[in-house]
Amino acid sequence: MAVDLLLGLQWGDEGKGKIVDVLTANYDIIARFQGGPNAGHTLEFDGIKHVLRTIPSGIFHETATNVIGNGVVIDPVVFKKELDGLAKFDIDIQQKLIISRKAHLILPTHRLLDAASEASKGKAKIGSTLKGIGPTYMDKTGRNGIRVGDLELDNWKGKYRALTNKHEAMINFYNVDVQYDLQELEEEFFEAVKVLKTLQFIDSEEYLHQAQKSGKTILAEGAQGSLLDIDFGTYPFVTSSNTTAAGACTGLGVAPNKVKDVFGIFKAYTTRVGSGPFPTELFDEVGSEMARIGHEFGAVTGRPRRCGWLDLVALKYATQVNGVTQLMMMKGDVLSGFKTLKVCTAYTYKGETISHLPYNIEPENIEPIFTEFKGWKEDLTQMTDPSQFPKELNDYIDFLEKELEIPIKIVSVGPDRTQTIHR
Ligand code: GDP
Ligand code: IMO
Ligand code: MG
Repeated sequence: MAVDLLLGLQWGDEGKGKIVDVLTANYDIIARFQGGPNAGHTLEFDGIKHVLRTIPSGIFHETATNVIGNGVVIDPVVFKKELDGLAKFDIDIQQKLIISRKAHLILPTHRLLDAASEASKGKAKIGSTLKGIGPTYMDKTGRNGIRVGDLELDNWKGKYRALTNKHEAMINFYNVDVQYDLQELEEEFFEAVKVLKTLQFIDSEEYLHQAQKSGKTILAEGAQGSLLDIDFGTYPFVTSSNTTAAGACTGLGVAPNKVKDVFGIFKAYTTRVGSGPFPTELFDEVGSEMARIGHEFGAVTGRPRRCGWLDLVALKYATQVNGVTQLMMMKGDVLSGFKTLKVCTAYTYKGETISHLPYNIEPENIEPIFTEFKGWKEDLTQMTDPSQFPKELNDYIDFLEKELEIPIKIVSVGPDRTQTIHR
């Protein structure tokens, strides 16, 4: 059986959690393949609003099994809080959630290192969520990391201590003001590890292989967005994992020839949280209106998200890198009432017009070229069928499909599970 992928095409927060929740009814297994608690995936249904961090967005469905893959980094402390938040729902977590032994652990000192690294950068900081993501992936690729499977070994605390001692020396090296009480952080950490150990640890690549062989359907859930990919994003203002399609293969052990559909999620406009270039960013009233109507505040940090027009150059790049087969357009409802809509279709780059994403997209090198559209006035949030769409929305969608050469199969018109229109 084939595996489908779902991932964000912009700078994250496209609405991945909502769509995974909507699609879960079609799958036996939902598997997160990368990132960690820097993610905040929001689900809304039956009057409930819930934000997931490490746990896959299929957890609220009766039937699906949820897998945290080897490519994910897990902070036991955040994970325990996530479980506490789910306690009020009647979910058999021990049965429905399983964790790869090969997933790496975020230690308290990884979070401190993140803070020290950002503080040392001053104005050039990444704008990290400070969840320890970068330092944990550094220890993974540096071959020093501690994995979930290590928790089953007797000597893991010795390994933990050696790594923590090294981290403390590194924190001192940064020579910045990071206050902490390691003993307190460790008490919390070891308590949380005990809770983590009540879950099932598995060899998830083998589990997923057998699942495929027996005909089970699998949806791989990405975190962050393609423009935050460590290789293909706006480096260095990126996260530390491969957020793009290839990340699902390495983050789950799924072979490339087993991947079928790649669902690419994008907002009808663009947002970004944290630092880094953003060619279509709006600094005027229009941008603040988008932020206000779209409630553009980070699900993890509460930081305001920067807003701007849709950037088709960047979006096309993301569809190419991922091999997207179906598009899903989110938050179209937020654009209702804007008189004119703009879409960036090319850049002026060093005096020339280009239609690809160049190496350097800092504002001094790039000027976006926009195509304008007439906006629509209608409220989309109560609509249930594409036949109800105003002409201007259809024009907008048709233009995007033509430019991107990929069908837009879902138009989302509100945060709730039910506000999802299939085309
Ligand atoms: P994710 O990280 O990609 O899962 O996205 P987030 O949950 O961080 O951010 C998306 C936000 O938009 C959440 O608050 C969602 O509830 C909300 N949302 C998702 N789809 C829509 C939509 O179509 N319209 C509106 N107005 N809000 C949406
Ligand atoms: P979801 O899965 C939006 C951004 C941070 C920062 C950069 C690096 O909810 O879409 P990190 O914590 O990884 O060191 O931060 O990446 N970032 C996100 N932005 N959505 C996310 O996840 C993000 N995860 C990280 O703001 O700019
Ligand atoms: Mg998010």
